[in-house]
Amino acid sequence: MHPMRSTLTRISDRLEIVTASQPVHVATFGEDVVLGLSSRPRTLPAKYFYDDLGSTLFEAITKLPEYYLTRAETEILREYGWEIVRSLDAPFEMLELGSGSAIKTRLLIEETLRVQRSLHYCPIDISPDALRESAASLVASFSNLSITGYAADYFAVLGTPDLALKRPVLALLLGSNIGNYEPEQAHRLLLAVASSLRGGDGLLVGADLKKDRETLELAYNDPTGVTAAFNKNMLARINREFGGDFNLHAFDHTVHYEEERGAVDSFLQARGAQYVRLNDLDLDLEFQDGERIHTESSYKFSLEDLENFGAAAGFGLAKTWFDSEKRFSLNLFMRN
Ligand code: AVJ
Repeated sequence: MHPMRSTLTRISDRLEIVTASQPVHVATFGEDVVLGLSSRPRTLPAKYFYDDLGSTLFEAITKLPEYYLTRAETEILREYGWEIVRSLDAPFEMLELGSGSAIKTRLLIEETLRVQRSLHYCPIDISPDALRESAASLVASFSNLSITGYAADYFAVLGTPDLALKRPVLALLLGSNIGNYEPEQAHRLLLAVASSLRGGDGLLVGADLKKDRETLELAYNDPTGVTAAFNKNMLARINREFGGDFNLHAFDHTVHYEEERGAVDSFLQARGAQYVRLNDLDLDLEFQDGERIHTESSYKFSLEDLENFGAAAGFGLAKTWFDSEKRFSLNLFMRN
């Protein structure tokens, strides 16, 4: 098992933050930039979108008319949250991967507190700031809520004795975040979640559904250019943090839905041949005209895909809820 070296910070009588040690070496942003930009095809990991500006740009994306995902998932929670929380035996505890958008987690906590008098909620989030902020605002809103937040990589917490949960547990993986993982990684993530759960525990997964190319490509390439800014901020962040001279005007945001994989891929494509230097990483790059950097894959799912993913990790799909336009799904898996 993993060496257990975690620090517990008690912030109030209802809020504690655990900073868990990483089980293995996790690459730094700089290491990933050097590796990704030196390989062919060039890539940058999507997790680095979310610095301060990137998180704000993502918030703006969720308000775009073309980006239906967040609205659809919120609609499902408003409509069926009552039914979702009644699918488990109360009282249960809640585990969330990602500290969750304010509105969506709030809806579920509110519904849960209708079926039990108190709730222990355990979010895991890689960003200590996001975790602390959202946790503090939640305990301030709900007097019967206590939170143990884990500031760590999911894999550093799941399945370890660090994670102290009383059964039964409802685990949450919302926002189609599962879509950002390659299928093999998504499988490993579900296995890791399964290792923290027992028979009868639930896992609620928000997953975007396969649909026509036009709708999907527009959701990731809005005409206002917010998603383009979100994507280009990756280069801006590299400029800021590593003394780089990427010319943001000389890269285009492009997206392509690859139907066979069921994934919308996002790229930054060089407009014209150009040289780029990242001073602090001592890295010189030469881009050909039209050369692309892959920055993200957003996988889309059929119900069959979801059932198979669950089954492979020891989960049965108990129920799926949809928004009124059937664009997005919330799937309740039960641990066998
Ligand atoms: C937060 C990963 C679910 O892939 O739909 C939105 C991120 N990227 N627009 C997604 C994103 C471009 C989003 N996830």
